[in-house]
Amino acid sequence: MPASTLANLRILLGVSGGIAAYKAAELTRRLREAGAELRVVLTENAARFVTPLTFQALSGAPVRMSLWDESAEAAMGHIELARWAERILIAPASADLIARLAHGLADDLLTTVCLASAAPLALAPAMNQQMWAHPATQANLDRLRARGVSVLGPASGSQACGEFGAGRLLEAEQLVAELAALHGPRRLAGVRVLVSAGPTYEDIDPVRFIGNRSSGRMGFAVAQAAAEQGASVHLVAGPVHLPTPAGVIRRDVRSAREMREAVMQQIPQCDIFISAAAVGDYRPGEVAAHKLKKRGRALTLTLAENPDILGEIAARTSRPFLVGFAAETRDLETYARAKLERKRLDLIAANRVGDGQGFDAADNELLLLWPGGRELLPRADKLALARALIARVAALRTAARAAPARRRRP
Ligand code: C5P
Repeated sequence: MPASTLANLRILLGVSGGIAAYKAAELTRRLREAGAELRVVLTENAARFVTPLTFQALSGAPVRMSLWDESAEAAMGHIELARWAERILIAPASADLIARLAHGLADDLLTTVCLASAAPLALAPAMNQQMWAHPATQANLDRLRARGVSVLGPASGSQACGEFGAGRLLEAEQLVAELAALHGPRRLAGVRVLVSAGPTYEDIDPVRFIGNRSSGRMGFAVAQAAAEQGASVHLVAGPVHLPTPAGVIRRDVRSAREMREAVMQQIPQCDIFISAAAVGDYRPGEVAAHKLKKRGRALTLTLAENPDILGEIAARTSRPFLVGFAAETRDLETYARAKLERKRLDLIAANRVGDGQGFDAADNELLLLWPGGRELLPRADKLALARALIARVAALRTAARAAPARRRRP
């Protein structure tokens, strides 16, 4: 039960000014039910929509609003409050609050506490759909995501202002589940994860091969991020020179067929397979036993098709949760969404390659697509992206297990 990961967790709930502030009352109740210890901070504008008394009654603790309340500061100063929090959730997060956080302002109690706290921060935005779509808001959110802030929602639908679109606060129940999946301690405890990483090399003769530019860093970062979340991780690595992440069991392979064999051996024992390897689609039809000699004329190599490892696993009736990668030089989303559907994957992580992006680079940008959803992870280093990817995988897998009928596709 994901909510149990919130038991005894010290959560600071920030409520900013917007009509959705009334929904934060229900959220307070749900977080208490999930066992969290709560402190609520309202912004001044939030208090125009809801009263501190509501939250005091529901959270069982005094509600804070101002930096300048001497008696409250004497009881628990804002720095103590920032240290007290193990997680900070702001719901609803208004466009204004998001802008202030993105720019590191500390002009009221809530933003000051956010700046003074090392606790992971999650935002649940709620605003008019035009404000949500505005490039300024989106740029502020990209900035926050790049710093590791989680953005929960928003949902789409009819809005209090009479418009229709994205910008509705997620329902309290969903926020609690997302928070538990994102920030719950060790989200993959007891889960068996298999990761493939790196390129494959296909030998032409004893000294030459066909390979690709994959560095293996993304797959290794994914293996590390899964291990950090308590998963038992097997990593099947193509030819790369990278250290094995702590706690990960690694097997080195060279060709696509060797990778297939190593992956297939592990598949029956895994719950999640993340196929980050850049598996070569073709190999030379035959490998010369001796070094090919120059013959003063063109050389024609006949290539045979390699097995599609991920495709083969996806076609099975009993299969783990499947995550693929798509590297594209153009029309990223269209091609990646088609691949997600064709290979019947649960999630695809798409990135643009070429022009110094993707394969060889230390940082990257990922577009996550899954049936019915998408999330853009803006440019960040590969470990930060891997952590965000693993958080999404954990959340989707939890949701799929809670509603298995919805996951099955024809
Ligand atoms: O179709 P495409 O090769 O772009 O699909 C990429 C995804 O499929 C990656 O997750 C990659 O690891 C996997 N793949 C595979 N076997 C292949 C080719 C790709 O498992 N032969």
